Amino acid sequence: MIGQQLTQFLINEQRKVPGATGELTLLLNDIASACKAIGHEVNRGALAGNLDVIGTENVQGEVQKKLDILSNDIFIRSLEWTGHLAAMASEENDEIIPIPAEYPRGKYLVAFDPLDGSSNIEVNLSIGTIFSVMRAPEGKATITAEDFMQKGTAQVAAGFCIYGPTTILILTTGQGVNGFTLDRNVGEFVLTHPNVRVPEDTSEFAINMSNHRFWEEPVRRYVDECVQGKAGGREKDFNMRWLASMVAEVYRVLMRGGLFTYPMDEKLKSKGGRLRLLYEANPMGFIIEQAGGVASTGRERILDIQPTGVHQRVPVILGSKNEVERLVSYHQ
Ligand code: F6P
Ligand code: MN
Repeated sequence: MIGQQLTQFLINEQRKVPGATGELTLLLNDIASACKAIGHEVNRGALAGNLDVIGTENVQGEVQKKLDILSNDIFIRSLEWTGHLAAMASEENDEIIPIPAEYPRGKYLVAFDPLDGSSNIEVNLSIGTIFSVMRAPEGKATITAEDFMQKGTAQVAAGFCIYGPTTILILTTGQGVNGFTLDRNVGEFVLTHPNVRVPEDTSEFAINMSNHRFWEEPVRRYVDECVQGKAGGREKDFNMRWLASMVAEVYRVLMRGGLFTYPMDEKLKSKGGRLRLLYEANPMGFIIEQAGGVASTGRERILDIQPTGVHQRVPVILGSKNEVERLVSYHQ
């Protein structure tokens, strides 16, 4: 029901699952709280000196901003003590993050990108936090990176929080996708976008066009056909968007459809792609599929990939079914 608070929504969902202990509900609530705290720092921006570049690089070779580090710390500090997690993996940490010995260990693992799209920080465009929840192996003394090497199909829940004109949490636990808007007056996420569905057809695509010369043939063919539109034999003309913020692109796709891709290209070959499997492609793939869309590398379903590394990268094509399937078919 529209207007339900997130906690109430989660408890109602939990009651539909026989034998549910409520641990996932508590974990998702804690993640939502972490997102509220991160959103608060994003909003304070330059007033709190949060936009400074600190000059260090993460394991991905990306320059870290103060807000990247702050978001990462908030996420870790908000979750490590709760007793719901056995370990975490973050875009900003080379190695997986163990739960400190003084806290109880829980039955879940979370992989997260604390602040996606952070090249948009200084230009005041939408950025966000992405997370993927998996089960931890039972009865293991020490959790290792190996335990995170689970296919996307094994995710228990996934979501993202977008810090835009409004702060919105998008969530799936495998029963469809729901969106909650942060009501700042009461400090709660409220269900405003129930049962989000991605339209099967679209006339909008999103790709970084500056990489055109590096693309593989199927991608070049698809985009060239979209650009040509009716004149080139497609049944319609297309529009293009590129925000350089995956959370914002996926949010747009969820709201009105579209095809979003960061495909394989010549200069990404050695890296495997641009976007990271565990905390970008998998959670977004799960959300998109749960909303009736498709998520593929062009050659296989994202959620079927066997991960081999915490920071592994993959090509991503996701969004409206008919357009994604068309681009995938060009790869065959
Ligand atoms: O986290 C990676 C990311 O910031 C995504 O949010 C976004 O889709 C992509 O990188 C943008 O990459 P580029 O700057 O190459 O367009
Ligand atoms: Mn990211």
